[in-house]
Amino acid sequence: TKQKLWGGRFTGKTDPLMHAFNQSLKYDQRMHVVDIKGSIAYAKSLTLVGILTKEEEIKITDGLAVVGKEWQDGTFQIQADDEDIHTANERRLSELIGPLGGKLHTGRSRNDQVATDMRLWLLEEAKDIEQGLKGLIRVLVERADKEKDILLPGYTHLQRGQPIRWSHLLLSHAFSFSSDLQRLKQLIPRVSVSPLGCGALAGNPFVVDREFLAKELGFQSVAENSMWGVGDRDFIVEFLMWSSLSMTHISRMAEDLVIYSTAEFGFVTLSDAYSTGSSIMPQKKNPDSLELLRGKSGRVFGNMAGFLMTLKGLPSTYNKDLQEDKEPLFDAVDNISASFKIAEGVVATLDVHAEKMRAALTMDVLATDLADYLVRKGIPFRETHHISGRAVALAESRKCQLNDLTLEDYKGLSTTFADDIHKVFDFEASVERRESIGGTSRKMVDRQISVLRAILAE
Ligand code: ARG
Repeated sequence: TKQKLWGGRFTGKTDPLMHAFNQSLKYDQRMHVVDIKGSIAYAKSLTLVGILTKEEEIKITDGLAVVGKEWQDGTFQIQADDEDIHTANERRLSELIGPLGGKLHTGRSRNDQVATDMRLWLLEEAKDIEQGLKGLIRVLVERADKEKDILLPGYTHLQRGQPIRWSHLLLSHAFSFSSDLQRLKQLIPRVSVSPLGCGALAGNPFVVDREFLAKELGFQSVAENSMWGVGDRDFIVEFLMWSSLSMTHISRMAEDLVIYSTAEFGFVTLSDAYSTGSSIMPQKKNPDSLELLRGKSGRVFGNMAGFLMTLKGLPSTYNKDLQEDKEPLFDAVDNISASFKIAEGVVATLDVHAEKMRAALTMDVLATDLADYLVRKGIPFRETHHISGRAVALAESRKCQLNDLTLEDYKGLSTTFADDIHKVFDFEASVERRESIGGTSRKMVDRQISVLRAILAE
């Protein structure tokens, strides 16, 4: 039977259950592209220090290209003894080119190899994730631009608060996502660090040019300490933290839309494309897309918490526990990528019921404006807050709206009220008064849209 790559010092066989427990190929094979890429760069660096001749290098890199092609075509034959993507590729290379294949790993360890692969893989994925995130921001901005005329109550504590533009709400979510975009860009330099050439832990005795390797692979910098280079997985933790926060934003937006899509609110209807029905209740149209977005956030957070738990207490450099970095990272990447696309689709296809939103605008959401009216006539806000509150209580006791009270009623609360009070009971006027930066006036909503468009164009 064939020997394991590391089998020299062993006389006994691996327990079959242990082999299955140990092997990561079933999930780390998705790194086959970057694993081959890293090996090709490493072969070149070995030529530069005289370990390989140019002809040997070409044989190795040609062989690696064939192995890569087999993965791509789906013809790569996995062998029972293959442990992970690194051993599988090396085993196959040697089958293709003979014992020369055994020179490739000179001075290299799977420890610097796997760390290199993980970083390269994440850098590639991060590009797609960035596009997905931008797609979501874009659809929020475009909707906001088109639907500026729609007004609804803004809520605090899920209680009606003040009138806002629907666009303002959409953009509030877009700003959360735009900070995610900024944070994603900011963490890239810490992912883009090359561990290749760190060896097992102490460094590379054949003095391969690590800066050459980093450049070949497109890394921004080189890990300055080989023990750190092979043992560090902070870039994964950081990405998982980033994903958890961004999924939290998705989840909060989803929750708004779940609430707004109930019959009780009736503000929005999800398109059929993003809803599902009930197996028993024929009338049901459930917002499963939104609920899954909300649910996946817990799962991604779990990946982060779980992996931090794996890391805590590990001694320096490589320990096999680190193989447990893959599934949480892969799962987070898969779920956040899908979530951005689903969220984008949901927002793009949402039916918005402007009249229902409008109908929810009861006059009490102008109580702040009523207090502000008196402020403009010179009364301290603390007093006007109280007077407006009494007007609300009076209307409530008469089961009428604030604008149904007579001028005499108002004068009974404060002699400062005059017949221009009717101007307060105007939702458009209310939102238009919020005209300083960040407000819900048309001009300030337009400003938000241009700020976000500029960010998207960067
Ligand atoms: N499959 C391993 C992992 O993902 C590769 C590194 C193995 N290194 C070692 N010294 N056993 O972590």
